[in-house]
Amino acid sequence: MPRTIIKDAVGKVGERVLVKGWVANRRVHGKIIFIDLRDRTGLLQVVFEPSKKEIYELAGELRSEYVVAVEGTINARPEKMVNKNIASGAVELVAEGLTIINQAKTPPFEIDKDTLKVNEETRLKYRYLDLRTERMNNNIRLRNKTLLFIRNYLSQEDFVEIQTPILSKSTPEGARDYLVPSRLHPGKFFALPQSPQQYKQLLMVAGFERYFQIAPCFRDEDARADRSPGEFYQLDMEMSFVTQDDILNLVEKMFTALVKKFFPEKRITREPWPRIKHNEAMSEYGSDKPDLRENKNDPNELAFTWVVDFPLFVQQTKEDFFYGAGEKYAPSHHMFTAPKEEDVALLDSAPLKVRSYQHDLALNGYEVGGGSIRIHDPKLQEKIFNLIGFSEEQKKQFSHLLEAFEYGVPPHGGIAPGIDRLLMVLTGQPSLKEMIAFPLTGDARDPLMGAPSAVTEGQLKDVHIRLREKDIK
Ligand code: AMO
Repeated sequence: MPRTIIKDAVGKVGERVLVKGWVANRRVHGKIIFIDLRDRTGLLQVVFEPSKKEIYELAGELRSEYVVAVEGTINARPEKMVNKNIASGAVELVAEGLTIINQAKTPPFEIDKDTLKVNEETRLKYRYLDLRTERMNNNIRLRNKTLLFIRNYLSQEDFVEIQTPILSKSTPEGARDYLVPSRLHPGKFFALPQSPQQYKQLLMVAGFERYFQIAPCFRDEDARADRSPGEFYQLDMEMSFVTQDDILNLVEKMFTALVKKFFPEKRITREPWPRIKHNEAMSEYGSDKPDLRENKNDPNELAFTWVVDFPLFVQQTKEDFFYGAGEKYAPSHHMFTAPKEEDVALLDSAPLKVRSYQHDLALNGYEVGGGSIRIHDPKLQEKIFNLIGFSEEQKKQFSHLLEAFEYGVPPHGGIAPGIDRLLMVLTGQPSLKEMIAFPLTGDARDPLMGAPSAVTEGQLKDVHIRLREKDIK
């Protein structure tokens, strides 16, 4: 008999079906054994009656999370037994056959309860069990629906989705790189991309005009509730022949449609979204990602805010380790962001006064996206490199981009909303880990796989690396 999924079993009153799934829980009332069977589509109550001796006895062995197949007849439940909390609550399956496909150990936490308060190390070590819980399962499915929506939306807007390399070269976004040693090129390293920034600009030179990617990004930085210490995903976008307004309008329309479709209970505070200048955000709200909600206790309020007219540079600090030592200026966003035309003259006299075409998207006080109109003049780009104190050697790291710009570069710009962070704020989860299937811990470990891990002497030799005594534990 073919398997029926629980969602479909509901409409089959009086019919014989075979269902398969996990035992969500087991109860005994009088002499009758009840289980809730869970599959990917929902829960179904299964009844084992003592009159069917053989399967009744087998049902007595069932424990939570056993994997089973049950054959039987779908019955309508008596009126007073209807469970309005589950979609299949008006029916039940009267078991006539039972196969225990696999037993299960007692899970380290209860799967039919929310796991937010369970110790994080345990949740991540047993993530495959955590993901069985209703909230986590819904979160991951919502992530999938969101990505599908974005892909469809942007495809209709004539965007091309293009995968850019993971084994790549450093594109500085202000964090440390994750490095991968090369076997074939002793002493050389790939850097995992902090973002596809340079590739997407090269794709504009290549003439695609509209690119997007659900892009994995890797940054070795300290974790926070809204910041991953390893990898995260951006909705990376780039467009040619556009103004800043074109970029903002497109993203605003797309996310508004997304909210209306998947979060109908949410209210967007102001439409169109306010666009405020960086200096006003700082003077009025003391933040470059202001929280403009009218009622911060309302879980259904979403205050999207664009922040524009950022300064091109900030005073360089010791943390700006990538940039030229001893110089005064570090890019406020990144070094490819264009200054506003009317401020270009100030580059020589007062660089800190130059405003840029950077745009950030704030949502309820979180920075959920950032981007800019880019420099497309190699001479201006070189000038910026000089102001941030690049040596000739450092400039050479970007010579491929400057060279590409000599072959007909269109004016271009883009943005990259952070997928994990955006979903965290939209769903009101306390951490972006709640929206990621297999996140790292705060100190950048995966307790499930045991990563990072030591490697063999032979593997190290292959990649020409010898560890220092003091680093070997
Ligand atoms: P930026 O560095 O501002 O811009 O990053 C864009 C967005 O990515 C998200 N984000 C993160 N999310 C989780 N964990 C992290 N560690 C993390 N770091 C960043 C944020 C942020 O707003 N290449 C440019 C974009 C561009 O100019 O088009 C860039 O990466 O939501």
